[in-house]
Amino acid sequence: MCGIVGAVGHDRCGAVLLDALKRLEYRGYDSSGIVTLHNGQIDLRRAVGKLVHLETALAAQPLNGHIGIGHTRWATHGGVSEVNAHPHVAANRVSIVHNGIIENSTLLKKFLVSKGHKFKSQTDTEVIVHLITENLKTENIVDSIKKTLKALHGSFALGIIFKDKPDLIVGARRGSPLAVGYGPNENYLGSDSYALKSMTNKITYLNDGEFCVIKKDHVEFFSEDGTKINKKVLELSSEEEKYDKGDYKHFMAKEIEEQPLTLKNGIKEYIDNANDDINIYNFPWKKNEISSITLIGCGTAYHSCLMAKYWFEELTSLDVSVDIASEFRYRKNRFKKDSLYVFVSQSGETADTYAALDLCNKNGMKTCAVVNVIESSIARDSEFVLPIHCGTEIGVASTKAFLGQILILYILALKLGILRGDLERKHLSRKLNDLKKLPELIEQTLLTDNKIQNISSTFNEAKGSMFLGRGFSYPIALEGALKLKELSYVHAEGYPAGEMKHGPLALIEEGMPVVVLAPRDNYYKKTISNMQEVIARGAKVLLITNKSSDEVISENIWETIEVESTNEDLLPFLLTIPLQKLAYYSALKKGFDIDKPRNLAKSVTVE
Ligand code: G6P
Repeated sequence: MCGIVGAVGHDRCGAVLLDALKRLEYRGYDSSGIVTLHNGQIDLRRAVGKLVHLETALAAQPLNGHIGIGHTRWATHGGVSEVNAHPHVAANRVSIVHNGIIENSTLLKKFLVSKGHKFKSQTDTEVIVHLITENLKTENIVDSIKKTLKALHGSFALGIIFKDKPDLIVGARRGSPLAVGYGPNENYLGSDSYALKSMTNKITYLNDGEFCVIKKDHVEFFSEDGTKINKKVLELSSEEEKYDKGDYKHFMAKEIEEQPLTLKNGIKEYIDNANDDINIYNFPWKKNEISSITLIGCGTAYHSCLMAKYWFEELTSLDVSVDIASEFRYRKNRFKKDSLYVFVSQSGETADTYAALDLCNKNGMKTCAVVNVIESSIARDSEFVLPIHCGTEIGVASTKAFLGQILILYILALKLGILRGDLERKHLSRKLNDLKKLPELIEQTLLTDNKIQNISSTFNEAKGSMFLGRGFSYPIALEGALKLKELSYVHAEGYPAGEMKHGPLALIEEGMPVVVLAPRDNYYKKTISNMQEVIARGAKVLLITNKSSDEVISENIWETIEVESTNEDLLPFLLTIPLQKLAYYSALKKGFDIDKPRNLAKSVTVE
């Protein structure tokens, strides 16, 4: 989703900004642009599509200057076109980049048009830059920004430069993340620390409502009402993780294969081998302080929450609910003192999840974040943080972060089970032992490659497909269907197997591919019966189960994939692997952009 960068003081500004934009590519975008100030003029380059097009435009006409801002755009208001790409310029005086949505842009535009402002694009962003120009007629820079921000409804992160002030960039934040980076006689602005990391590891994050004036040798911060504030400079680790694809064709392929390592890291971090215990000793709440837990997320992270619900119910006596962040944030929630709210997010920046967290914080709730990016807004604003330790995930369709999230949520369920006395120590020991063997089982399950490659064509050729599961396998069925939709653009629906007869059975027709997740767990026999119901109606069933000495008692199964065996709790981890591969190979055969599927973004910073 939209990414912002800015630099002041650097003598190769255009090139530096382009490099920083490349680091924001992973978020997903459809156009890009950079503007610099040079010899008293605003100089702008924009391009539709991949950054390579902007790079070509810059090679043909380089951008000079010591100050500039850049942007990768993910369209919200107005189609994908060069004229809608950022930066936007008003009256040849002010230029802006924006991440977020301005909800009252239509009203503001009317007002500005009545004042004689001429608009070039269909974006909500252009309204902001015109409004600043309008306010500059009577105010100085800081006051015009203050007045403009006050008039805006919605969410934003902004970077702004002024033709008449060639030594400063203004940054502002409400809702969407933004950070300032510090260099030697040059300073920067960026949507996240990752974008800034190639230039500096000294960072300050803006909080909601704050804005800043960045000059090459110092930065001033202001609260919404224009009062000057002091902010901490954080020193992030300067070690750069390696982000290349290695020998893999796609990041997603690499990230799928990395999963045994991801789990090993998580297990190393959270299991105390010496004491046969869970290493969350700093858990901030006592057992009688929590009687219910609500898990909140979006997309794949929401599926992690759903998965966790089964474990929390199995391993603890807590009341458990799960919510989609975009629903939770606007509902009339009954906040209770003894509730714990857990926010699950790979990026830690998803706007809806952040808004749900903010709501809980404002209502004095206990909040815990399960995130991958530990410097993220959700991590920073939660009372307690459980990092998933997956390393950077680049593929827009989440894979290793999903297993990382469910691992930590499983461990948290064990922790609360022990803390509350719901789970016996001897059972914990057994479960931890099984957990330690999981990375190796994932490694073996990853070997079932060829079969899935062949099977994937059938899913591509069909009108649609269904993914069925019961109990622990149901959230995995949802995640499998989501992966196929995201990557192959074919319709796929995840459903509880027992619910098919109440509607979706009508969709089944001769030859329709249906994935049935039926591991040998408590639900096995019931799921097999549901599978027979779809086979009887002509479905081509791909059964995914775990290895067992007992044969599956069913006829006319199209294909069977067997994952390794482990205890019931952990089977969902193994069932996920063939589903990720199915989606990957389907998209590969179609020649789609696997790491950046159309219309999707990795970090969804608008609601
Ligand atoms: C986007 C991504 C998904 C992700 C979801 C939530 O839609 O494409 O892969 O699951 O956002 O993201 P989060 O960073 O909060 O986990």
